[in-house]
Amino acid sequence: MARIFVTRRLADGTLERLAAAHDVEVWPEPRPPARDELAACARSAQGLLTMLSDPVDACLIEACPELRAVANYAVGSDNIDLEAAAARGIRVGVTPDVLTDATADLTWALLLAAARRLPEGVEAVRSGAWRAWEPAGFLGLELRGATLGVVGLGRIGRAVAERAPGFGMMVIHTSRSGGVPLEELLERSDVVSLHCPLTAQTRHLLDERAFGRMKRSAILLNTARGAIVEQAALVDALERGSIAAAALDVTDPEPPAPGDPILRAPHLLLLPHVGSATHTARARMAEIAEENLLAALDGRPMPFPAGGSDPTRARARPRA
Ligand code: DGY
Repeated sequence: MARIFVTRRLADGTLERLAAAHDVEVWPEPRPPARDELAACARSAQGLLTMLSDPVDACLIEACPELRAVANYAVGSDNIDLEAAAARGIRVGVTPDVLTDATADLTWALLLAAARRLPEGVEAVRSGAWRAWEPAGFLGLELRGATLGVVGLGRIGRAVAERAPGFGMMVIHTSRSGGVPLEELLERSDVVSLHCPLTAQTRHLLDERAFGRMKRSAILLNTARGAIVEQAALVDALERGSIAAAALDVTDPEPPAPGDPILRAPHLLLLPHVGSATHTARARMAEIAEENLLAALDGRPMPFPAGGSDPTRARARPRA
């Protein structure tokens, strides 16, 4: 029986199978553990079930001499030092595919909200600033015929692109394996949507130069990772009107500090990282994290290892 530390109470998914086989301790607070608290709770664990907000870096790995497996409750693994884990022979798993549809749907919710300026409209009605129907009031982007530029054509990027024909949008993409160059995508797109993983290569992919290439009428969407965008450059682009609007599910850091300029940027819709927040997706994420830990602690390969897994294995489905 191994000791497993789970860094947050999960919404759906009871971890029954894990608890039947191992000694499972769940962080009891509604807030995430601070670094030192995480290190203290993880020190004697053989398995960790972590959130995307938990930094599993070389320091933490060094502080956990017995650690054999980390199951991240996320499709991304940018919060984990994979090299440090591999050097110690620690297996790392993620939860791919089961959150693809949830995240793609949320991307379209952001796209529609930003294109039709929903936050401004809601605020105008609520505050009483809306006095009368106006021919030129709240004009937005007509989607039919507009171009959607998808950056990163993995599972989520593809699912976002698949939804575009229903709205009459044309899709172009850029990815490691093809599509158009990023510069061309930025120049041609009416909506740019980010779906690449956060890596050393994609950190600050969208910087001042990139915003300078985008149309003044363009909308930026980010449901991937905040640090893919250089946030100060985005605030500047929105303030100067060099792009029309942005809608972000992710920021850098999360949450933004109270005085962060991103909170005051104009034409910006911000969400609290809810891409995978459906009951179905979160329940399947728990199941997959559980499967990853059970396998690794049993000496078997994880079914969903970080950095490559079989996407046909775990389509999102309601729990039986
Ligand atoms: C992930 O799993 O990486 C998502 O960002 C969670 O919403």
